[in-house]
Amino acid sequence: MAIGLYSAGIIGTGSYLPEKVITNKDLEQIVDTSNEWIVKRTGIRERRIAEDCQATSDLATNAALLALEDAELTAKDIDLILIATSTPDMPFPSTACIVQHNIKAENSAAFDLEAACSGFIYALNTAHQYIATGFYKNILVIGAECLSRITNWKDRRTCVLFGDGAGAAVVSRVKNGYGFLSHYLGADGSGAAALNVKAGGSRMPATLETIEQNYHTIYMDGSEVFKFAVRIMSTAAEEALRLAGLEKESIDYLIPHQANIRIIENAAKRLNLSMAKVFFNIDKYGNMSAASIPVALDEAVKSGKIKKGDNVCLVGFGAGLTWGSSILKWHK
Ligand SMILES: CC(C)(COP(=O)(O)OP(=O)(O)OC[C@H]1O[C@@H](n2cnc3c(N)ncnc32)[C@H](O)[C@@H]1OP(=O)(O)O)[C@@H](O)C(=O)NCCC(=O)NCCS
Repeated sequence: MAIGLYSAGIIGTGSYLPEKVITNKDLEQIVDTSNEWIVKRTGIRERRIAEDCQATSDLATNAALLALEDAELTAKDIDLILIATSTPDMPFPSTACIVQHNIKAENSAAFDLEAACSGFIYALNTAHQYIATGFYKNILVIGAECLSRITNWKDRRTCVLFGDGAGAAVVSRVKNGYGFLSHYLGADGSGAAALNVKAGGSRMPATLETIEQNYHTIYMDGSEVFKFAVRIMSTAAEEALRLAGLEKESIDYLIPHQANIRIIENAAKRLNLSMAKVFFNIDKYGNMSAASIPVALDEAVKSGKIKKGDNVCLVGFGAGLTWGSSILKWHK
């Protein structure tokens, strides 16, 4: 079922994780926590952290080049670079412009999109619209984050959760019947206070005081976000299924946002899915916000877990509050 003139799907994926590993044992040295608590409450064992010399665009560039190779395209074939990130290199220019220059995508437009951890799903949806209308042919969609730069390393409630990384997908025309079957996006700005970075924007520009108060780092009401996440993950997946005209049983593989293994297990249960059909790598990388889903997708595809004809469901949630899901029939 094509939405618009042309069917669109993902024709190549790539991901990049910085080499530096921080284990739960390492975190025991800097905050009052334990490996046992982190594993039991979140499922996270370690996370990757970018080198001081690396910014979000560097991680994104590496992921982008691998996705292009996988799609058997060159940078010159790309019409648009779309980056979902909450940790851009700088307020402007966009990180997408920096990546465009790095990979020499000289025929490409470029912009960033911000929907926190739901960003990659929002960006896939956006890319789909351009392909479906025939406006563009090949779009590089990237989710990339350096969350370590906005983490409060003195706050044990948040610093154990996050990691850095980037994942990319090339979205292009595919044969009718394959590719995206549906998307479902949502937002509820009344939940903005539950998860945010307070300072550094127009509301609260950087001052000595904002730095002293740690207002440039992530604030999260963990239990509020947990309750929301458990509800929205299955609801969002079900809505995308409904829009695609499919039943729960039709999901061959679920790629959820990687925030907490308990949230993922709960979503699987509500969707009547065995964990064998659910991808998770949260143990290795923690929560990489907009990068979590594309990195998971790349690893699932490359490890042969997703096959041609499979109905794949991507589902995420995040600050905003926001949520999103996509169903696609894998075509490669
Ligand atoms: C953050 C989260 C893991 C906390 O787990 P939880 O089971 O809800 O734990 P609570 O916040 O209720 O805290 C329980 C206790 O553990 C303590 N605690 C919190 N973090 C800790 C840590 N890293 N190590 C040890 N103890 C910790 C708390 O201080 C609290 O102690 P208290 O009872 O003495 O006050 C969980 O709420 C969560 O995953 N929330 C959703 C996060 C999310 O999805 N964020 C991303 C959105 S994209």
